[in-house]
Amino acid sequence: MFESSLLFFTGIGAFVVGLGAAILIVWRDLGPVARLTAPQRVALVVALGGGVLAFGLKLTVIETLTFAGRDRLAPVLTPAEPSEPEAAFEVGRPIWEPLPRVAPAPAGDPTTPEKVALGRRLFFDTALSRDGTLSCASCHDLDRGGADGRPTAVGIDGAVGSRNTPTVWNAAFQARLFWDGRAGSLEEQALGPIANPIEMGADVDDVARRLAADPSWRADFVAAFGPAAAIEPATIARALAAFERTLVTPDAPYDRFLAGDTAALTPRQIRGMSLFETVGCIVCHAGPGFSRASLLAPEGGRAGLRRFPSLATPYTEKYRLTDDLGAARGGTAGIWRVPSLRNVALTGPWLHNGSVDDLSEVVRIMATVQAGREVSADGRVATRVEWSAETRRLTRRTPAALSEADIADIVAFLEALTGDGLRKKARAAATATATASTEPPLASRSP
Ligand code: HEC
Ligand code: HEC
Repeated sequence: MFESSLLFFTGIGAFVVGLGAAILIVWRDLGPVARLTAPQRVALVVALGGGVLAFGLKLTVIETLTFAGRDRLAPVLTPAEPSEPEAAFEVGRPIWEPLPRVAPAPAGDPTTPEKVALGRRLFFDTALSRDGTLSCASCHDLDRGGADGRPTAVGIDGAVGSRNTPTVWNAAFQARLFWDGRAGSLEEQALGPIANPIEMGADVDDVARRLAADPSWRADFVAAFGPAAAIEPATIARALAAFERTLVTPDAPYDRFLAGDTAALTPRQIRGMSLFETVGCIVCHAGPGFSRASLLAPEGGRAGLRRFPSLATPYTEKYRLTDDLGAARGGTAGIWRVPSLRNVALTGPWLHNGSVDDLSEVVRIMATVQAGREVSADGRVATRVEWSAETRRLTRRTPAALSEADIADIVAFLEALTGDGLRKKARAAATATATASTEPPLASRSP
């Protein structure tokens, strides 16, 4: 406003000065030299004055428009300030949703306390393995994030598998189970490990017969499925699934944050949350379960399989990412289920083959091969020049890179997805192990 009035008066001033100068010139210099009569002098002054007036008007109009109109034109003229707090995320926007407290049960098969109790007993019982050495909990240690902390699972007779043990916590929300998404429900999944020769190595029918011979199991099956209950693979699977539906962790700092406890996340975690969206992690790790393969995700989990690694990088060889192609039939990259990131900080080592034992390295890999970003120490990367023979065009690109600080922010955010209860249990379990291992073995105590 200040500039526009200043310029308006400058315009008027210029006009007055210009007109005065014209009168002086015409009357004192031009008039006498050209011997003009008074009317002629007036006409000349008017002509010159008109010019000066027009100039002054133009000046005023131009300046008024450019300055006074700036406020209104600003949104069109100036590009949006990138540093402005754009609505990167708002709590309550549909993309940020808390985990439901109860997992959905299949139609006609409600999760009852009796089924859950039976499922819990089955989950912890080594009778489900061929030689009675392993239970589900041997690999899915509920006190250690629901996994085993190993790169890949170790089954019966010490057989080493080729895949990492995923957590059973919140598995009830997954529409696709296993790393390659080959099972469509917990019921379908449950019998897999019992029969798998390198997991529990048993014959599921044998297991059912063994349980049926024990009256205490019979009582539990009757309580769960009624007097006519059959002890068979299907009921074993349904009970295990019912128990697994109670393994949910809706008590993460992230959920408390969404519920309005703004102090639940640190500034670093909030930055990580924003990056998680802007970098595009959310494209695949979507919804309250942070997995497109979740029942809670858009499309109900049907779009849950993705190519991984989707870009070729040195990571492929370093971590042997394509030795196993998952659900892909041939080709150069695997197809894998998008895993949930709930409690992911507790379930390392990570990825289908458990090849990475540092969560920040997993985030670096994801950012690079899945989200197509570059990562550099300071977040800056060289401008790349690309030549396309097809379009005969040279393009200069300065891709937005992530800095190591950004990676640390994302890791901090992932840590906010750990349930409070599970974090405490894992901490207690770790302390117990540490105490146990610092105690000298019995043999060395006696002299
Ligand atoms: C020897 C270790 C081991 C044992 C014992 C074991 N599992 Fe697993 N479990 C695994 C591994 C490894 C996978 C992943 C396999 C794959 O993706 O191909 C898995 C996958 C799962 C999943 C899928 C999780 C997800 O997000 O996809 C569930 C659920 C599960 N197991 C439940 C059970 C139950 C129930 C039992 C007992 C009947 C059991 N497991 C016994 C190692 C084990
Ligand atoms: C294009 C889809 C896609 C995008 C984008 C994506 N991911 Fe993933 N993510 C996957 C798939 C698929 C896997 C499973 C990889 C495997 O099977 O080894 C995975 C695995 C992970 C894991 C390991 C989980 C575990 O239990 O081992 C983490 C952590 C992870 N992603 C975080 C991220 C982060 C952070 C971003 C953003 C920087 C991101 N992802 C972007 C698809 C994606």
